[in-house]
Amino acid sequence: MMLIHVILFLQLLHTVICFTPSPRNSVAAVLVNSTIWFFGGCIPGSTAGSWVSSNSLFSLDVSRSWETSSPPWTDHSSDLTDPSLVYTRCQSTIQLDADGVTLWVFGGQSDVTSENLTNRSPAVQYNTGAHVWSNVTMPSNPVVLGLHAHNAVRNSQGVIFYFGGQSDLTTGFNGSLQNDNVIKLSTGPGMVNWNVLPSGNGWNGRYLGTATLV
Ligand SMILES: *[C@@H]1O[C@H](CO)[C@@H](O)[C@H](O)[C@H]1NC(C)=O
Ligand SMILES: *[C@@H]1O[C@H](CO)[C@@H](O)[C@H](O)[C@H]1NC(C)=O
Ligand SMILES: *[C@@H]1O[C@H](CO)[C@@H](O)[C@H](O)[C@H]1NC(C)=O
Ligand SMILES: *[C@@H]1O[C@H](CO)[C@@H](O)[C@H](O)[C@H]1NC(C)=O
Repeated sequence: MMLIHVILFLQLLHTVICFTPSPRNSVAAVLVNSTIWFFGGCIPGSTAGSWVSSNSLFSLDVSRSWETSSPPWTDHSSDLTDPSLVYTRCQSTIQLDADGVTLWVFGGQSDVTSENLTNRSPAVQYNTGAHVWSNVTMPSNPVVLGLHAHNAVRNSQGVIFYFGGQSDLTTGFNGSLQNDNVIKLSTGPGMVNWNVLPSGNGWNGRYLGTATLV
């Protein structure tokens, strides 16, 4: 009996240790303390060359060394108990709230071109301590575009800036290229404030650009 328990335990351990995320591109990632959090991305579809968007969430502890052949991934995908809360997304962004524990996922492209995302929020939150996802009620004024292929930077006060990308208010799939629009999201305990900063006639649209705060 003891032996069976030991074997079952080892098998369980093996399952836990051996999680490896499926191959993907355009995943969103953020380093929080010494853990990298990964969300979504484009994963291979059922036919060659096709892709589907993902809403998986996993993390990697980089505080200690590990074999590059077997990184110690942790899968958090099962924390999403209501999948309708977080539609699947490629080219999304993930950033940290001022509270140091809450992650903000904003934007991303759903592979379901016919899906109407009007009543689905482009922004969702994940609490890394409680392991719980929650919906974010978007303001009706200003209207914040659902973007994908945009980029995000955060300052030390937990203010997140989003630049560029492509927008579509209803499907999150395609739409117009954005250039010099800047969305400013101020975060913090009891404070969520979206701002759409005034824009002029800037550079051409940026798809999958990068931004760095200096
Ligand atoms: C990161 O470290 C800070 C400072 O020690 C702590 O307050 C915060 O809870 C940590 N965040 C996470 C997600 O562990
Ligand atoms: C999506 O749904 C909203 C609200 O139900 C509706 O007003 C809008 O026309 C729909 N958009 C498309 C592209 O079907
Ligand atoms: C989530 O937020 C969106 C945008 O504000 C809203 O339309 C939707 O009803 C909310 N969904 C839930 C389940 O609360
Ligand atoms: C968005 O994608 C749909 C489906 O592929 C296509 O019919 C439509 O023309 C596209 N719209 C734009 C603005 O590119």
